[in-house]
Amino acid sequence: MKNEIQQSFFSQFSGKPLLVKSPGRINLIGEHTDYNKGFVMPAAIDNAMYFAIGKSGNTVLGIHSFNYDESLVFENLEKESLPSWANYFKAILQILKEKGITINGVQCVFGGDIPIGAGLSSSAALCCGFIFGLSELFDLNISREEIAKIGQAAEHRIGLNCGLMDQYAVLFGKKDHVFRLDCQSLELKYIPFKLENHTLVLINSNIEHQLASADSEYNIRRASCEKVVELIAKGFPKIKSLRDVDLQLLKKYKNELQPIDFQRVNYVIKENKRVHEVINYLKDNDLKKVGNVLLQGHHGLSKEYDVSLPELDILIDLAKKETGVLGARLMGGGFGGATINLVLNENKETTLANIKKQYFELTGLECKIHEVKIEDGVKVI
Ligand code: GLA
Repeated sequence: MKNEIQQSFFSQFSGKPLLVKSPGRINLIGEHTDYNKGFVMPAAIDNAMYFAIGKSGNTVLGIHSFNYDESLVFENLEKESLPSWANYFKAILQILKEKGITINGVQCVFGGDIPIGAGLSSSAALCCGFIFGLSELFDLNISREEIAKIGQAAEHRIGLNCGLMDQYAVLFGKKDHVFRLDCQSLELKYIPFKLENHTLVLINSNIEHQLASADSEYNIRRASCEKVVELIAKGFPKIKSLRDVDLQLLKKYKNELQPIDFQRVNYVIKENKRVHEVINYLKDNDLKKVGNVLLQGHHGLSKEYDVSLPELDILIDLAKKETGVLGARLMGGGFGGATINLVLNENKETTLANIKKQYFELTGLECKIHEVKIEDGVKVI
């Protein structure tokens, strides 16, 4: 892939480009906890977006999407109506401009193998990879923390009111490690992920989470959480996020809350605890217990936070029936995309073939199976 991107650059532009690899991400546990200032446990993976990026020597800013085979020359960003991928570039360029950094004279080809709408953060890989590439190319010295925040601001501008997990995973991932990110202090702690005789497997439901609808549902979930915090903060001004709320305190407000908000917040508080449980089980490398927590996490995402789909629930039910699967859950924002599965290596092929076959029988859909490798975050290659 990297070579194809580089070749594509040479066929359209002049000069020698910088090559940047920007990975997708998984999240072992801690879903919808990041924007509640809680904990998450992501990692960067082997699916990645590649950028060949160079100075054009004039003021033109040209970008070519390898996957869509579309090119754009940015002239007047305010006026142009753009294909959806280009909106991310537009948002980034605008945000940088507001920070006093005007970018001109760039030529760039980007593309990769992170499936879109699969919950693997292709958009965070795109945003963070591009900002990182610009920073390297023009010696802007934008720190990784700052790149993450600019990437997040670009997503917000486009309409997804996301947290910072995806950007941190893309930027701070470390080979063979997951990390615990405290989304309040932004402190991160790497944890070696020793899979021994197991494999992490992504099973893509083949239902692309429809960005427009998924985003609005996503934003609705976030608004529910913030509404509850606002109410509790009236009595407890020190409460700034759900991070500070425990189940006991939440229960005191049960009668004042809409049942649906109560149910959603109840999920978030429990999911946050699950991150700590997984940390403890990883210390003993007790993957069986980790697997159980993943299953509980899926139950919460499906029945309490209500971000699953029948097809994702089917994938989890099928996984549960296999003795070779220790645990599984939908991953990312939800409403489509992939499940993450912790699978025993022994008989792995049969285990996965069973799930694939039955998924097709039950839904008429082909699922795509990918064995994940945990890799480093964004870097020049
Ligand atoms: C999306 C968002 C993240 C996070 C997850 C759910 O990937 O971009 O910030 O909220 O959903 O955990």
